[in-house]
Amino acid sequence: TTASPVVVAVDGPAGSGKSSVSRAAARELGYDFLDTGAAYRGLAWHALDAGIDLDDADAVRGLLAAFDYRVVPAPGGAHVSVGGNDVTEAIREPRVTAVVSSVARVPEVRVALNDVFRRLIRETPSPGIVVEGRDITTVVAPDAQVRILLTADEEVRIARRAAELTPDQAATARQLAERDKADAKVVDFLTAADGVTTLDSTHLNFAETIQAVVDLVHDTVGDP
Ligand code: DC
Repeated sequence: TTASPVVVAVDGPAGSGKSSVSRAAARELGYDFLDTGAAYRGLAWHALDAGIDLDDADAVRGLLAAFDYRVVPAPGGAHVSVGGNDVTEAIREPRVTAVVSSVARVPEVRVALNDVFRRLIRETPSPGIVVEGRDITTVVAPDAQVRILLTADEEVRIARRAAELTPDQAATARQLAERDKADAKVVDFLTAADGVTTLDSTHLNFAETIQAVVDLVHDTVGDP
């Protein structure tokens, strides 16, 4: 048998830089990376593709049995596929972002996806894995060796997100703060649970934030 991977759990709101920081920290550590939001987005894409009513929780639940979600490692970053369709780009489209919260608030969806995440964590070929989402430190991997809540003040989060968007998309940066408020009612990712380290990136740049995550991992599990 092989040793279990080191698990680094990172939660936080959208626009905290969570995704890009986690991905870069994973690369630096030589760890695998798992973006759990991508699976919720994959299911939302699947629901749109199937033409079901997103507010119909029964219909959403009905999609779960045949939900074929795969993460395929690739040189430029993992690709995700649903039912054999490469949806890596499609799941970032505004039409998916607009409905993903409806999918994520169905309890049976969370239970099913958590099973998928735990399997992906178990099966990683890497010595460790950085897992990023909203309830990783509390529900998906509460036993993770390193648990981080990555935050930043709301205005900073909005500004960072706006900087990633084209000017005509800038309004969506504000909508993002709204989505966070809706999502936070389902899982509270704005408060650090017991034993979770809060990393506030309000006054840190990207490189400093990555370094803070890497340092936390080294402090906890030692240098590889
Ligand atoms: O991080 P993101 O924007 O890609 O996440 C997409 C949606 O999925 C977001 O609205 C919240 C939800 N989500 C969740 O409920 N639990 C997770 N572990 C990850 C994402």
